[in-house]
Amino acid sequence: MRRPIVAGNWKMNLAVQEGRDLAEKIKASCGNWNAVEVVLCPVYTSLSAVGQILADSSISLGAQNLFWEPSGAYTGEVSPLMLRDVGCRYVIIGHSERRTYFGETDETVKRKFQSALKHGLKPIVCIGETLKEREANQTFAVLERQLAGAFTDASAADADKLVIAYEPVWAIGTGKTATPDQAQEAHAFIRKWLVGKWSAETAAKIRLQYGGSVTADNAATLMGQTDVDGALVGGASLKADAFTAIVRAALEAKTVAA
Ligand code: PGA
Repeated sequence: MRRPIVAGNWKMNLAVQEGRDLAEKIKASCGNWNAVEVVLCPVYTSLSAVGQILADSSISLGAQNLFWEPSGAYTGEVSPLMLRDVGCRYVIIGHSERRTYFGETDETVKRKFQSALKHGLKPIVCIGETLKEREANQTFAVLERQLAGAFTDASAADADKLVIAYEPVWAIGTGKTATPDQAQEAHAFIRKWLVGKWSAETAAKIRLQYGGSVTADNAATLMGQTDVDGALVGGASLKADAFTAIVRAALEAKTVAA
């Protein structure tokens, strides 16, 4: 049984004190719900402050990005060792906003993924098609290319640390969510690819999150799908009540299914 994982991607929002306040509220509501893994991913400048709040809870700290080198002359970048230093356990890699606005490619995603693993961070690798690609029936081809790009050199031993977030680009921040069937179809495709890459046993361990306009209202049906093991939440993760409701939906969907 895969432990569901719900991550809040705060993106470029919330100053330090606002981040502290939100983390306190989320800790108070679901800081000891061990059946679901909860991860909060604030901006770099709030990692330390939020990490201190989460330290005595079951909630993990995650970053939204990293650079693959451990240190050196890379102005403006942050290394995996530095993320570990402030208490991060997770890191989001290859989010579509990074691919679209900051020129990240399958190659940079691969390097970041490998570096995260090498330095003891669990990667949440994001993949997903644009609307144009979906309409051109390219969804599976795009997912396949992104999976192959990220995981060419990955070994089965890395699999249990890996989380993959399926985030259709057309659903991110748009209020347009994939239907539960669309999400399940894509997740099943990803799972099958992982079986081919490694084995059925290994693929069964890897957690697949859905991301893209997840809300308190649609979380339960999305999470009710066999291959949807959690959610990567943007907008709704900025409100303690909405985020807590999503975590609860994951808990209930997966507990009932068990
Ligand atoms: P959203 O963002 O929930 O605001 O659509 C999801 C994400 O980008 O991870």
